[in-house]
Amino acid sequence: MPPEPLRGSPGSNGSVPTGPTLTVEKLTVGYGGTPVVQEVSIRAKPGELTAIVGPNGAGKSTLLKGIAGVLRTTGGRVLLGEDDITNVVPERLVRLGISYVPQLSNVFPSLSVLENLEMGWYIHHGDGKERIDQLCSMFPDLRSSLRRPARTLSGGQRMMLALARGLMLDPQVLVLDEPTAGLAPKVVDEVWGHVLEIKAAGPAVLVVEQNTRRSLGDADWAYVLTNGRNNLEGPGPELLEDKDLIQLYIGGG
Ligand SMILES: Nc1ncnc2c1ncn2[C@@H]1O[C@H](COP(=O)(O)OP(=O)(O)OP(=O)(O)O)[C@@H](O)[C@H]1O
Ligand SMILES: [Mg+2]
Repeated sequence: MPPEPLRGSPGSNGSVPTGPTLTVEKLTVGYGGTPVVQEVSIRAKPGELTAIVGPNGAGKSTLLKGIAGVLRTTGGRVLLGEDDITNVVPERLVRLGISYVPQLSNVFPSLSVLENLEMGWYIHHGDGKERIDQLCSMFPDLRSSLRRPARTLSGGQRMMLALARGLMLDPQVLVLDEPTAGLAPKVVDEVWGHVLEIKAAGPAVLVVEQNTRRSLGDADWAYVLTNGRNNLEGPGPELLEDKDLIQLYIGGG
């Protein structure tokens, strides 16, 4: 499968995204046989930002791990388009076009920035130079740091690297777990801007984001997860108007 160029810049051609929808049906997943996420259903459509919000410990990361093949699910299904991809191993999911950027440990600290990017290319022959060049245009900080070990990057740059690595294979679905956690406010804006830019280019972007106001404000569709179960869902900005919800997750309204 030859690499395609990154699909357009935000709103550049107004084309309708054509990739597959990620559908999660009544998924149950947990640790060591104890279910944490129970019968959760969500859908992430191409060209849209789908957000999952909920209190700490609600099971958001566990759900993403179940989708990404990192944890074995014990009930329900995950579909990419019409294809059942439940419990498919992560290496294979990458080939199928699902890219997962975990909350922690999302880069190899001792490898250089370049090597990290090349690892995102591993299923292809060659060195992925062209794609790396495209991604460095999107994330300019990376270009000047290509030879540096990833551990010397700032938190924001590390997240840019993790995003760029996740984009190496031009995924159809990008799954992000708290991409702005622990970053300075200005860097948060920058990283979030990239997330919006990515979704505008075509893939389905499924994001768990600690900043409820920001994620709901920009989410085409959002799900509220509590105690490992679906609670509410709707267009993000509409959920933002739900005073009880805001009180619960953001405080003060
Ligand atoms: N490796 C693990 N082994 C056992 N239980 C775990 C493990 N990781 C998480 N849990 C438990 O699963 C539940 C859900 O955790 P999860 O990390 O999915 O929540 P979260 O919604 O992502 O929270 P946060 O907002 O803090 O990131 C919690 O009760 C947590 O203690
Ligand atoms: Mg989490």
